[in-house]
Amino acid sequence: MDNTPEKTLLKLEDINKTYTGVQPVYALKHVNLTVRKGEFLAIVGPSGSGKSTMMNVLGLLDSPTSGKLYYINQETSKWNERQKAAFRNREIGFIFQAHLLLPEFTALENVLMPAYISRKMKKSHENRAKDILTNIGLADKFFSKPAQLSGGQNQRVAIARALMNNPSVVFADEPTGALDQKTSAEIYNLFRKINSEEEMTFIIVTHERDLAHKADRIIEIVDGRIIRDEFHS
Ligand SMILES: Nc1ncnc2c1ncn2[C@@H]1O[C@H](COP(=O)(O)OP(=O)(O)OP(=O)(O)O)[C@@H](O)[C@H]1O
Ligand SMILES: [Mg+2]
Repeated sequence: MDNTPEKTLLKLEDINKTYTGVQPVYALKHVNLTVRKGEFLAIVGPSGSGKSTMMNVLGLLDSPTSGKLYYINQETSKWNERQKAAFRNREIGFIFQAHLLLPEFTALENVLMPAYISRKMKKSHENRAKDILTNIGLADKFFSKPAQLSGGQNQRVAIARALMNNPSVVFADEPTGALDQKTSAEIYNLFRKINSEEEMTFIIVTHERDLAHKADRIIEIVDGRIIRDEFHS
């Protein structure tokens, strides 16, 4: 395994995440993980085991209770909200069910949103957005709004949006959960294609066994701990 620092994208060091409440929940316990650029990683584990919590921490959406998160050798705990937001917009693509599409906007406009936000809209962005939507099987839906699309089609729009800014890493939490087997396999193949062509890193939470087994690396989380970390080639 190539562990040279310049190949390291992110690193978790002894991460703990506790949700406080009447009864504290120890959602992540002493998690250590190094992810290299260009990896295609699947995260599996039972419901409630801490997968989404880990994605939120990795995606700088939630802070760990203790431990350190590094991106490209920079420790992130000192970053303020603005710095985190800028980093997310530039470097991270999210495919989370909670990140809904904006209902007032068409599929094409939703995909273009990251470019609007970074205030660098160009004609080339529109072409890229159309290419991605076409690749994902939505060539005839550019101008449809979320209410006019099926659940699976909206999920595909969210996928296209995540890929739009050409991020370093894509975090996907059950990205194909609402899709049939055929569409889900197609989307998975698209991820693999982008992963190899653009060296984009993918970290995907999935319950679908066959999808997980097509990843280069599988991490299993049980009760807040990584209990398995396997590389395939
Ligand atoms: N905001 C929160 N406040 C309190 N507890 C939370 C919060 N979010 C998650 N938890 C708890 O933390 C634990 C881990 O939850 P998490 O959402 O990470 O699980 P998961 O592995 O993603 O599960 P699933 O496969 O069902 O999506 C669970 O016990 C959950 O109830
Ligand atoms: Mg979850």
